[in-house]
Amino acid sequence: MSKTFGVLTSGGDSPGMNAAVVSVARFAEQYGIDLMGIRRGYNGLLGKNDNELNDIRKLRSETVLDILDLRGTYLRTARCEEFKLPEVLDRVADDLKHKYHIDGLVIIGGDGSYKGALDLCKRGIPCVGIPGTIDNDLPYTEATLGYDTAVNVCVEAVRSIRATSRSHDRPHVVEVMGRYCGDIAMRTAIATGAEFVIVPERKWDLRDVVKRLNSQIANGNSRATIIICEHAWENGNMADYPWQEVLCEHDKCVHEDTPFSSQNMARVLKYECGVEVRSTVIGYTQRGAIPTAYDSAFAFEAGRMAVDLLLHKTPEPDDGFAIGVRDGRVFHTSLRRAALKLDHRPFNEELYHTVNTLPYLPREDDLILVAARNVKK
Ligand code: ADP
Ligand code: F6P
Repeated sequence: MSKTFGVLTSGGDSPGMNAAVVSVARFAEQYGIDLMGIRRGYNGLLGKNDNELNDIRKLRSETVLDILDLRGTYLRTARCEEFKLPEVLDRVADDLKHKYHIDGLVIIGGDGSYKGALDLCKRGIPCVGIPGTIDNDLPYTEATLGYDTAVNVCVEAVRSIRATSRSHDRPHVVEVMGRYCGDIAMRTAIATGAEFVIVPERKWDLRDVVKRLNSQIANGNSRATIIICEHAWENGNMADYPWQEVLCEHDKCVHEDTPFSSQNMARVLKYECGVEVRSTVIGYTQRGAIPTAYDSAFAFEAGRMAVDLLLHKTPEPDDGFAIGVRDGRVFHTSLRRAALKLDHRPFNEELYHTVNTLPYLPREDDLILVAARNVKK
């Protein structure tokens, strides 16, 4: 009897998710497997629609071929709190087996989605994970699907920002995504020549940023770029610096509950360093971009491997498979290890240090500017 597999995308969308779905569809077809596309992540498995099959529809490769380069995720995605409940998971596993007759699932998502997949494995549903997230926060793999695209979006944006910063001689704070993983920030910083990188993996001090920016300015660089990863705000030492009071006194009154942000950092730096400072949050453009060649190619290989694994390989009990990149090659490992982040990828301390300590060597123009400024003072 022919087999039926399912595929879904879950969590934050990431560039390359569609390419991975297409790849799964093409290889499933090659093996004569029926493929069901499950809509809106794990929500689609809850059977909430009036027509229960509405969220679980047959995917033919000829219908999905054209979505290969489409932005976002064709299958839609969602976050689904209910899916964490054991009784819901029991019912879903039962439906997958007895109502939808699904023999295996391909889950394209991040670590949260992997945990959900692992819960299904424990209930007898074979699952393979493809790491669809821009954050690159799964230590078992060198790259997640969408990370390369997100970095390219940030690099493009920072290049533009550095051009206008140069035109106006203004430093700029740029916030990128990545959740608690500073990889997008680090890669963007080294690819653009940014002078500062601030990541959630390392504690940092606002006073230190002020000091270093002042020293860059004194050296003639009044157009430095400070790249910060979104959740690094939580890791900064603000306790020693009464930034709310400072802002109220010099720029704009802020409430004591106001979170520190790229905009507020720019305001503080303006006051402390005596130059105009601007800020940009790159935001969701990182998620909605067209996948780079790297991500599209990774998606193709991952989709092929996922179908192959579901067909030909048996995982350890209560486990599934997770696909990733190791030494530049697409490989597979245990879903349990991947979901529980049991592998360790060391933080690139040297690179972090290099970006943050590389001195600015003034050019002739810079020296003239610095001299003129000193005369004014
Ligand atoms: P990502 O997959 O990108 O990390 P989330 O962390 O939001 O995104 O997780 C996506 C979905 O995965 C959640 O909305 C939920 O349905 C499911 N999920 C997350 N954590 C768990 C968990 N511990 N157990 C079961 N399902 C989970
Ligand atoms: O996981 C991808 C991601 O874009 C993170 O970088 C970010 O913290 C989060 O999702 C934002 O999630 P939401 O779509 O719920 O705003």
